[in-house]
Amino acid sequence: MPAIALVTGASSGLGREFVRRIDHGETGPIDEIWVVARRADRLESLVRTCSKTVRPFCLDLTDPMSFDILESALSETPTARVSLLVNNAGAGTFGDLASTPRDELSDMLALLVRAPVELIYRTLPFMREGSRIINIASVAAFIPQPRLAAYSAAKRFMLDISRSLDVELEGVDIHVTAVCPKFMKTEFLDAPGDARSARKMTKIGFERTEEVVRQALRAARAGRGLCIPSLDMKALYAASRVLPYRAAIAVERAIGVL
Ligand SMILES: NC(=O)c1ccc[n+]([C@@H]2O[C@H](COP(=O)([O-])OP(=O)(O)OC[C@H]3O[C@@H](n4cnc5c(N)ncnc54)[C@H](OP(=O)(O)O)[C@@H]3O)[C@@H](O)[C@H]2O)c1
Repeated sequence: MPAIALVTGASSGLGREFVRRIDHGETGPIDEIWVVARRADRLESLVRTCSKTVRPFCLDLTDPMSFDILESALSETPTARVSLLVNNAGAGTFGDLASTPRDELSDMLALLVRAPVELIYRTLPFMREGSRIINIASVAAFIPQPRLAAYSAAKRFMLDISRSLDVELEGVDIHVTAVCPKFMKTEFLDAPGDARSARKMTKIGFERTEEVVRQALRAARAGRGLCIPSLDMKALYAASRVLPYRAAIAVERAIGVL
């Protein structure tokens, strides 16, 4: 019965770090790591550098066919068991919604909202007691964020669905962890869209992918529903739950992140 870890967005940044740590055995017994992204060359290099069996899936997760392909691959693998699903693939640009190209907006919503739900739905029948789901949200989920409106709303969706699913599945000892990192220096910021907004928002600072993954895996192992790796963002989360929205926006303006 091969125990499979499935990681989306494995070709760079946070996803690649998840694969590295899973390969080093930080998630317990995993026989195969299934990695998903569009860039085949990057996935092939994971196959070469990992010691475990890595199965690359060069797929665009905005295309609904991708979910059928992954589900078929699981069905065709005798006694496949998904021990860990990491819904990590993501993209987003800064700027007003009205100035965002329509196709970009629609692809972003497909990637951030439809893809993780489809993947959870398709992999759940292959999960067993003790399986874990890690959903990468963002601190952008805490407060609805002008100039990142659809992205922050999509990450809020990720946060909320993770928390309710975690309760739905607790009876079968499957846990869902929403991870909320702040900015990280990955390719995510290579084409930021409105550079001025990006500069302002990134004033909140960066954290390291290594630390985010370390904490995410630890939270998932412990069956915790929420993982906010950095201390200042834990405080922001607490504040966001009591501060009226307009007051939060006024604070963001005052400190120059908006
Ligand atoms: N970096 C930050 O500041 C930050 C902060 C908070 C949360 N996050 C979240 O963290 C997650 C990882 O992002 P990252 O920082 O590691 O960025 P990244 O380095 O740009 O990685 C994004 C990954 O998603 C994959 N991807 C993008 N579009 C895809 C598509 N249509 N189909 C399949 N795969 C796709 C990319 O692979 P291909 O291009 O090869 O397809 C890549 O592997 C995302 O969910 C992001 O929203 C990032």
